[in-house]
Amino acid sequence: MTAVAAISSSDTSARANIRFVLDGEIVELDDVDPTRTVLQFLREDLRRTGTKEGCAEGDCGACTVVLAELDGSGNGLSLKAVNSCIQFLPTLDGKELITVESLDLHGNGLHPVQQAMVDQHGSQCGFCTPGFVMSLFALYKSQSDPSRRDIDDALAGNLCRCTGYRPIVAAASAMYDIPAADDDWLRQPHGSGVSVTDRVERLRQIARDSSLELHHGKRAFFAPRTIDELAATLDAHPDATILAGGTDIGLWVTKLQRELETVVYVGEVKEFAAIRESDAHLEIGGAATFSDAIPAILEHYPLLDDMLSRFASPPIRNTATLGGNVANGSPIGDSMPALMAAGASIVIRSADGSRELALDDFYHDYQVNDLRPGEFIERIRLPLPGPDTRLHCYKLSKRFDQDISAVCAAYRLELEDGCVKSIRIACGGLAVTVKRATHCEQAMTGRPWTEDTIAAGMAAFARDFEPITDMRASAEYRLRSGQNLLRRLYLETRGDLTESVYLYGRHG
Ligand SMILES: Cc1cc2nc3c(=O)[nH]c(=O)nc-3n(C[C@H](O)[C@H](O)[C@H](O)COP(=O)(O)OP(=O)(O)OC[C@H]3O[C@@H](n4cnc5c(N)ncnc54)[C@H](O)[C@@H]3O)c2cc1C
Ligand code: FES
Ligand code: FES
Repeated sequence: MTAVAAISSSDTSARANIRFVLDGEIVELDDVDPTRTVLQFLREDLRRTGTKEGCAEGDCGACTVVLAELDGSGNGLSLKAVNSCIQFLPTLDGKELITVESLDLHGNGLHPVQQAMVDQHGSQCGFCTPGFVMSLFALYKSQSDPSRRDIDDALAGNLCRCTGYRPIVAAASAMYDIPAADDDWLRQPHGSGVSVTDRVERLRQIARDSSLELHHGKRAFFAPRTIDELAATLDAHPDATILAGGTDIGLWVTKLQRELETVVYVGEVKEFAAIRESDAHLEIGGAATFSDAIPAILEHYPLLDDMLSRFASPPIRNTATLGGNVANGSPIGDSMPALMAAGASIVIRSADGSRELALDDFYHDYQVNDLRPGEFIERIRLPLPGPDTRLHCYKLSKRFDQDISAVCAAYRLELEDGCVKSIRIACGGLAVTVKRATHCEQAMTGRPWTEDTIAAGMAAFARDFEPITDMRASAEYRLRSGQNLLRRLYLETRGDLTESVYLYGRHG
């Protein structure tokens, strides 16, 4: 059973337990089950039941909490909303956990976010409300004048079946008009300081200077701190499960009831999350989250905005990594079509060294890739575009926000003198892996960029894929829409379609 203790010591020596901050107290846990979720801990161990369980798979947002960490400077805080239902408890080590109960004002009234929800009639049954409040709290702390699109995006991971979203969106605008005393609005231990400086100080107190290693019965959890240490740990435990954001792995546990014996968590390897630019590439560390990677990618490939803004929801993007998406290799994963069309490669690392592989060659079969035991994706190398390169990507799904693709198609196109100098096309949802449309590419390369060439490309596209029918879409829909997206590309490049796909989904 997990022991819970509030402590005040600043001892940072090697420990086989985890520490985090909750309501200003440092909490230390012993004998932690590595795959116990933060939500289970809150509700079952602490009986802190404000945080709800709806789906237990990251979809509904009822379990949303906020995590605070020291920012890059080490002197400030960075806050992010996450889904506690798929967040494993040991990943809290070194962080501050903020739940809906933390928005406590010592009898001074409701937090501005809560007050705005009340004023705007934003809640009915209350099951979803704590999650909405926490997503709005994360927005409140990160932006002071969000646009309608920012608000829609902040709420994309929260479902409500009762009120509809209009009053909740109204609360998101109204919360800024309610006077607040900033960080004082969080519950703190009696008599202690509440400033950001105090909270930074508490996080410094629990900062770890050695790697975390936990054992619980047959289960083990390792959190190395350098890439070399990560490679050595995986060399020693080649059958371990590599845990990054856990947005796929969390569901293996909560939905598939899988037992994970040895877990190696990569979230503490700071250098592994780095994003750098070299002369010809954007180098994205294997553990970079989507929230960090998206702005860097959009700087070079702005046309990916529509697709990337529809990748899951902020709480998922805050933890999900690009490396995890590529490694998981789902045929309907959204990053791979764009990466593959762009000509990306991956650097694979192990204790024996590194090797680089074109993403085209990484997938062998349905969720079978080229990684060998002990290997991991160290970084993704995305070529920087030439002056005439355009990279388009379209995601088709039943719901606009937070839905899995039926089809995702990406095109890297270079035109010269009105002809196709080069085109690379990669599609998800049309085969057992994300895959290039090579017949289609060949049918168009070197030809004038005209309706006739598009028609030839669409015909050849049918030779590239034999999609299947499943609950998301029929085979016919998949093939036809894959062909029609090529036509959409053509119309967009001619300027005939200027509206963002985003505008088809919701308000501008
Ligand atoms: C609600 C919800 C919505 C989602 N929406 C989308 C969506 O819109 N589009 C989409 O494509 N996906 C979506 N996903 C799936 C998921 O978020 C992504 O696949 C995500 O990128 C996985 O990254 P992660 O860091 O969470 O990986 P994890 O869950 O930690 O790991 C996934 C797999 O990758 C392996 N792995 C992780 N990192 C590495 C590495 N560096 N080297 C080698 N192996 C590694 C793990 O061992 C595991 O096999 C969604 C998931 C949820 C729960
Ligand atoms: S319970 Fe639904 S997202 Fe966590
Ligand atoms: S008020 Fe949100 S589900 Fe009812």
